[in-house]
Amino acid sequence: MTGSVASAPNANKALWEKGDFTRIAASMRESGEELVGTLGVTPGMEILDLGCGDGTTAVPAARSGGNVLGVDIAANLVAAGNARAREEGLSNLYFRDGDASDLRGIEDNRFDLVISIFGAMFAPRPFDVAREMVRVTSAGGRIVMGNWIPGDPTLIAQVLKISAAFTPPPPESFVSPITWGMEDNVRARFAAAGVAPAEIGVEKASYRFRLSAPPATLLDTFRHYYGPTMNAYEAATNAGREDELHAELLALFESENQGGPGLTDIAASYLKVTVTKGRS
Ligand SMILES: C[S@@+](CC[C@H](N)C(=O)[O-])C[C@H]1O[C@@H](n2cnc3c(N)ncnc32)[C@H](O)[C@@H]1O
Repeated sequence: MTGSVASAPNANKALWEKGDFTRIAASMRESGEELVGTLGVTPGMEILDLGCGDGTTAVPAARSGGNVLGVDIAANLVAAGNARAREEGLSNLYFRDGDASDLRGIEDNRFDLVISIFGAMFAPRPFDVAREMVRVTSAGGRIVMGNWIPGDPTLIAQVLKISAAFTPPPPESFVSPITWGMEDNVRARFAAAGVAPAEIGVEKASYRFRLSAPPATLLDTFRHYYGPTMNAYEAATNAGREDELHAELLALFESENQGGPGLTDIAASYLKVTVTKGRS
């Protein structure tokens, strides 16, 4: 056989580069800042933000003085993050391409804090993801993950559920990202990476999506810029079910909204996972 072998297209990367998550992230900044405010970031702390998008948590972590590396599979989001770092004059913040399930090139034990808010949960091979996060965390360091919860009645869990119902089924080998929102899976994946049960904490927490526009505008943003929802609309349109999908999602966005007239303020529950890497 002659010639080079073309590498298989990366569906995970294509899904996130298809849209523009910066448009959704704009409604999530306050919660990102609040969450980082609880993490005890101190000047000089070495921080990895995995599946960082354009820096909803990486930017506030760097503003607090951490030396932050943002890693994301989507080249457009890496570029958007680096543009934000430049605009803010944050020389302690840098974004680069990478896959949470294979962090080769990043040395063992490098980070005091590894953050992954609705990021690494979307990577393939969850056991590899847990192993890689533990590997790059320093002894005594922490991992903090945010994961959407399957079956939860609030916004994003339901957006993913409804979107999946209108999208062709994934390959059999596909492990659903939302399985990261189940405590038993979290424990099994970190246990396999060598973490003791007592070092794994889980609690339910909440993120807010806020916009100075009605919920229909936020849904429009998901429709045009959020990969999983874009795919659902495409499939629904091809099946002649676009109106059905739109009505279901609009009812969800409107019923979850707590904002006043013309405003969006929607709380979405997630599983907050905190792992401490033992010193032995
Ligand atoms: C829902 S967004 C969250 C972004 C960011 N953490 C935030 O809170 O705004 C999911 C992010 O995970 C990234 N992602 C998906 N799969 C990934 C993978 N295998 N490795 C690294 N990042 C990944 C996507 O590109 C996207 O930026």
